[in-house]
Amino acid sequence: MINIQDLSFTYKDETKPALAEVSLTVPDGGFLGVIGPAGAGKTTLARAITGMIPHHYTGEFYGSVRVNGLDTVDTPIQDLSRQVGIVFQDVDSQIISPLVEDELLYGLENFGIPREEIPVRMAEALQKVGIADLRERPVMSLSGGQRQKVAIASVIALKPSILVLDEPTGELDPRSSRQVFSLMKELNEEQGITIVLIEQKIMLLCEFARQLAVLSEGRIVRSGETREVLTHADELLALGVNCPRVTTLSRILSARTGEEQPVCVNLEEAENMVRRMIP
Ligand SMILES: Nc1ncnc2c1ncn2[C@@H]1O[C@H](COP(=O)(O)OP(=O)(O)O)[C@@H](O)[C@H]1O
Ligand SMILES: [Mg+2]
Repeated sequence: MINIQDLSFTYKDETKPALAEVSLTVPDGGFLGVIGPAGAGKTTLARAITGMIPHHYTGEFYGSVRVNGLDTVDTPIQDLSRQVGIVFQDVDSQIISPLVEDELLYGLENFGIPREEIPVRMAEALQKVGIADLRERPVMSLSGGQRQKVAIASVIALKPSILVLDEPTGELDPRSSRQVFSLMKELNEEQGITIVLIEQKIMLLCEFARQLAVLSEGRIVRSGETREVLTHADELLALGVNCPRVTTLSRILSARTGEEQPVCVNLEEAENMVRRMIP
């Protein structure tokens, strides 16, 4: 469980807080999507959840962040990293090994995973992400999207109970993006891993996340169940956050027919809505 209470953080030498009075709870096995325009504080939130703030980034820190009951301020980052895995927005700053398999090996050895278990974990993680064939390749020879998948595989090999992904599909084409989201859904539903997914691809986020938090200028301006947050489409648009087209469609049809249509969050719901309206 992630429990954030009244968190405010201002980076050293900055005047404006990157996060202001943020309170947020993600239950065990939750799937939170985080959206918001550039500079809203999404990456800062990810750093706070993993403990990189305040351990690696100094500044003014108020409030509290607890992950699985551990207060991030009092807990060494090594201990926190066993609870929370993160895939950085800039994956190239995350990958440190020249070869794909070494990158996975590095993390597993660091965590003291028993020797005999290491090959099993490596094979499983690479296969899950769909890059088993890249195992012996130099990282430098891979595309941006492939490197993103390497970063994801390295993290899931460590089997954290919470996984934070900061715009993990930025370099991926639509098909691969969907694969990553489906993988997160699978980890969430089958292994109970708590997912925090920061993402600009609103359609995918709304389809997969059960809970949404909308950030703007360091503040959470909306949070709650995905469908509920999407009922505030006008407010989101004003902040520069697009709504999925299926949500817009349900709003337009409500206005045109004078009959309130339930907010659609995926294609299937939109299809059913349209079918109901066609005699
Ligand atoms: N390392 C840093 N040092 C100082 N300011 C930073 C640093 N990282 C981010 N910021 C500032 O914090 C604010 C939020 O940034 P960020 O969390 O990266 O937003 P987002 O991920 O939503 O684009 C911005 O004003 C940004 O300039
Ligand atoms: Mg960011």
